Amino acid sequence: MKALLLAGGNGSRLLPITLGVSKQLLPVYDKPMIYYPLSVLILAGIREIMIISTPQDIGRYQHLLGDGSRFGVSLLYKIQEEPKGIAEAFILGKDFIGEAPVCLILGDNIFYGLDFSEKLEKVVERTKLGEKGTIFGYTVNNPERYGVIEFDHDGIARSIEEKPKNPKSNCAVVGLYFYPNEVVDIAKKVKPSKRGEIEISAINNHFLKARRLLVETLDKGFTWLDTGTPESLLEAGQFIETIEKRQGIKVGCLEEVAFQKGYITKVQILNCASQIKGTSYGQYLEKKYGK
Ligand code: G1P
Repeated sequence: MKALLLAGGNGSRLLPITLGVSKQLLPVYDKPMIYYPLSVLILAGIREIMIISTPQDIGRYQHLLGDGSRFGVSLLYKIQEEPKGIAEAFILGKDFIGEAPVCLILGDNIFYGLDFSEKLEKVVERTKLGEKGTIFGYTVNNPERYGVIEFDHDGIARSIEEKPKNPKSNCAVVGLYFYPNEVVDIAKKVKPSKRGEIEISAINNHFLKARRLLVETLDKGFTWLDTGTPESLLEAGQFIETIEKRQGIKVGCLEEVAFQKGYITKVQILNCASQIKGTSYGQYLEKKYGK
């Protein structure tokens, strides 16, 4: 399985902040936003990842994350010339994806919950069979901001509407998607929406119609946050701070996740820690993984 991590867009809801800095580089408490979705991919056991960003920002991501070897994964970088929609990622990533099934994650989504790793590994294995894709639904109080799932009387997902004025449910589609390889051909055929974008919801509707999309719900005990507005960005930072301080853990700590998966050694962790000595992040790694 290959993964695409989208770190493009113009971050319009965060202007003027995003005039100077790419949204997914902004801090969410103690680390850059992109660490969180990247840690999800590593947790899922996906080790071939393409990061997609704008011509002006791609170099910053390369500088931050390098070739991925620090985290036991392989990172490639691709430019999206203009923000033409989330699903353009499949077209941009065509050669990288090759014949493989593919996962797409949005660089501004934060996931936190128990047993997420096991859940993801199961979805990865199922997607590899090549039959069905999987998306995740999460109950929110502002569904009109998202892709919204419409369910029939039997609770079966029937369609997905992108940012509807009158949402048919409170169930939003989160920014993490798994598809069989055909998604690349489907993305090529999708016509841009009124706002000129190749919508991810159009891809999902295509798979739903063909009865090839599973919708898993993430329950109340799970936390899904997005970070697209000043308020949600601040709230996400406060949430991470609260959890990390209270439990003495780190969320989205790439070196730690890579170690837990067996992709890097303790020596490599400590090497990373020594480069950011004196910070809470570096001290955490030293304390937990040092002798
Ligand atoms: C995108 C998708 C939307 C999804 C959301 C999740 O919207 O278009 O379907 O629910 O991500 O974060 P955006 O936030 O990019 O406007």
